[in-house]
Amino acid sequence: MANIATIEIDGKKYEFPLVKGSEDEVAIDIKALRSATGGVITLDPGYKNTGSCESAITFLDGEKGILRYRGYSIEELAEKADFLEVAYLLIFGELPSAEKLNKFHSDIKKHSVVDDDVKKILDAFPKSAHPMGVLSSLTSALTAFNPSSVNVESEEEMYNAIVRILGKFPILVAWTMRKKKGLPLYYGDSSLGYVENILKMMFKQPNEEKYEQNPILVNALDKLLILHADHEQNCSTSTVRIVGSSHAGLFASLSAGISALWGPLHGGANQAVLEMLEAIKEDGGDTKKYMAKAKDKNDPFRLMGFGHRVYKNFDPRAKIIKIAADEVLGDLGIEDPILDIAKGLEKEALEDSYFVDRKLYPNVDFYSGIIYRGMGIPTDMFTVMFALGRLPGWIAQWREMRLRKEPIGRPRQMYTGETERKFAPVNKR
Ligand code: CMC
Repeated sequence: MANIATIEIDGKKYEFPLVKGSEDEVAIDIKALRSATGGVITLDPGYKNTGSCESAITFLDGEKGILRYRGYSIEELAEKADFLEVAYLLIFGELPSAEKLNKFHSDIKKHSVVDDDVKKILDAFPKSAHPMGVLSSLTSALTAFNPSSVNVESEEEMYNAIVRILGKFPILVAWTMRKKKGLPLYYGDSSLGYVENILKMMFKQPNEEKYEQNPILVNALDKLLILHADHEQNCSTSTVRIVGSSHAGLFASLSAGISALWGPLHGGANQAVLEMLEAIKEDGGDTKKYMAKAKDKNDPFRLMGFGHRVYKNFDPRAKIIKIAADEVLGDLGIEDPILDIAKGLEKEALEDSYFVDRKLYPNVDFYSGIIYRGMGIPTDMFTVMFALGRLPGWIAQWREMRLRKEPIGRPRQMYTGETERKFAPVNKR
C-alpha cells in the first residue's frame, strides 16, 4: 500500500501521510489538513473514525474480538494474573518482578489512608446520593488534601502520585458503600492483598471479630477488575486524557473520568442491565416483550448490556464473564432467576435478525452485575466497581499522555447557527 492518502477538494489534490500501528492498523495523518487546505476540517461526531492519539497500552480488534494489555491477551491475564500486577503492567509497560511488585504494593499501602476531613465531606452527602456522584466528588476532593501539582518530568513524583491514588481510591469506594449501608467506616488491613483488603473494607461488619476471606469472592473480584482495567480510548478514558491535557492534575482528571463512566451507555450499563432484568422478572419474565421494545424505533428502550462501539463480533470480556457468572453463583450455591432471564434474552437476541444485522452482542456489562449481586454488592455500587477496575487504565493513559507531551485536546466544530445579526433592545423587538 502506498503510504500517502490523497484528498481532492474542488479539483485540488492534497497529500497526507498514512501511518501504521504495530498491528498494521492504518490511519491518515491529517495534522496538516486545515493549514494545507485553507480551513477544511473533518467532521466525525462521536469520533467513530477518529484516532485521538497514538498509544502503546491496549490493543483492541473489534472485528476479531481481540483485547490485549501491553501485548498480553485478556484471556491469559484474567486466568493467570492478579489485579495489582495487571495494574503495574498497564501503567509502567512491563510485568513486574516479584521484588518490584512487592515494593509497589507496600508503597500503595503506605498511602492507604485518607485525611479525616474526607469523612466530613462524605457525611454531608444525603442518603439518596448516587455512589458514582459521591466517588467522583471525593476523588476530586483529594486534590484539596494533596494540593501540590505533580511534576511529570520527575519519575519519582509521578510514581508517588500513582501509588497515592491506588492506595486511597479503594478506601473511597468502600466508604461510599459503607456510608450508604449505615456501616461505620473502616480502614482495612495492611496485612492483606490488594483485592482481599478491598473486600474486607467493604464487607467487614462491626460485630465481626474476624472477617473470613472467601476465596471465591476474591478470585471473582480479581477477575472482574482485570477485565475492566483498560479499554483504550473509550468515553471515560478519553475524558481523563482530555482533562489531563489541560495539565489539570491526576485526581481532577480521574474525577472527570468517573463522571463520564457513570452514564448508562458506558459503565452505568451494568446497573441498568440488572434493573432491566429485574423489571423483566417483575413483569412475569416475558423476554419477547422487551425484545420487541428494544427493536421498536418509537420506544427509547434499549437492550442494556448489548452492543458496543468497537466490538462487532463478540466482546471477549463478556465471554469470560459469562463463564465466571456460572462458576461464581455455582460455587456460592446461589440460584438466581435473573441469570436464567439473562441467558434467555441473550439466546433470543443472538437469533434475532435485528441484533444479528446490527452486530449487537452481549458486552462486558451484561453479566458482570449478576456476579456483583451474587457477591452482595448493591446495584447502585456496580459502576463504582467498574471505576475501581478502570483506575489503572485511566492512570496509565494519563501518564502516557503527559509523558508524550500531547497538546491540549481542543476539537473543532462545524457551526450551523445563525449568521451575524443586529441586536435590538428589548422594547424594540
Ligand atoms: N438495543 C437495541 N438497539 C441497539 C442497541 C441496544 N442495546 N445498541 C445499538 N442498537 C441499534 C441502534 O438503535 C442503531 O440502530 P439503527 O442503525 O437502526 O439506527 C444500531 O444498533 C447502531 O447503534 P448505535 O447507537 O449507532 O451504536 P453506537 O456505537 O453509537 O453505540 C452503544 C454503542 C454501546 C452505546 C450502544 O450499543 C448501546 O446503547 N448499548 C446499550 C448500553 C450498553 O450496554 N453500554 C455498555 C457498553 S460496554 C461497557 C463500556 O465499556 O462502556
